[in-house]
Amino acid sequence: VVALLRDGPLLGVRVVVTAGPTREPIDPVRFITNRSSGKMGYALAAALAQMGAEVTLVSGPTALATPPGVNRIDVETAAQMLDATRAEAAGAQILIGAAAVADYRLHTPSAHKIKKKTDTLELSLVKNPDILCELRRAYPDLFIVGFAAETERLAEHARDKLARKQLDLIAANWVGEGRAFERDDNALHVFWNGGERELTQKPKADLARELAMLIAERFRSRTG
Ligand code: CTP
Ligand code: CA
Repeated sequence: VVALLRDGPLLGVRVVVTAGPTREPIDPVRFITNRSSGKMGYALAAALAQMGAEVTLVSGPTALATPPGVNRIDVETAAQMLDATRAEAAGAQILIGAAAVADYRLHTPSAHKIKKKTDTLELSLVKNPDILCELRRAYPDLFIVGFAAETERLAEHARDKLARKQLDLIAANWVGEGRAFERDDNALHVFWNGGERELTQKPKADLARELAMLIAERFRSRTG
């Protein structure tokens, strides 16, 4: 049972969360995507709403139910996710990028189904815009939280992304070899300028509550 919230550490704070994978079309029946289930982003949206925040979830395709009290906008491509996130973030104080955004899209998706005429097939890809970088540029005062999914040198890559994307906080996790993606539990190493905290392995719902508390704490300490 979800209590009606007239209270909570994020009461009235507007938060936008991106979640899930994106889909980049190859032709009308095929696309490029990744292994993100969306579970971490959805769990985070649920936890933030329970803390009194007004949460909008900008979601790629997932098999998940919308958490209670959360406003959800469905998108498919990275470009659509960028547009929706930019529009929703206009009145928000916090943005959390939990989506696994495709780094590349087809240069020119085929208008018709590609036929198997040749033995090899080359697809030409171009880089997608980085949603967090674009949003930082559009909204310099937004409190932005990123994720970093890494298979090696976790702390180094996470700190690099924190600086490069001008994030306020980054939550890093190991991926690959059956870790994180498509699983119900996870662990996170969180970094910000001047601090870090390790959140140990636990179900994603519990981990999301811990991360949401830490985000509220850092947001308050910045905002005063
Ligand atoms: N991200 C984004 N837009 C993109 C790519 C990533 O907003 N086009 C966000 C993700 O939601 C995540 C953070 O940036 O919060 C880091 O994503 P990640 O894939 O780990 O980093 P990249 O910058 O894409 O670098 P790389 O994949 O090369 O490690
Ligand atoms: Ca990436």
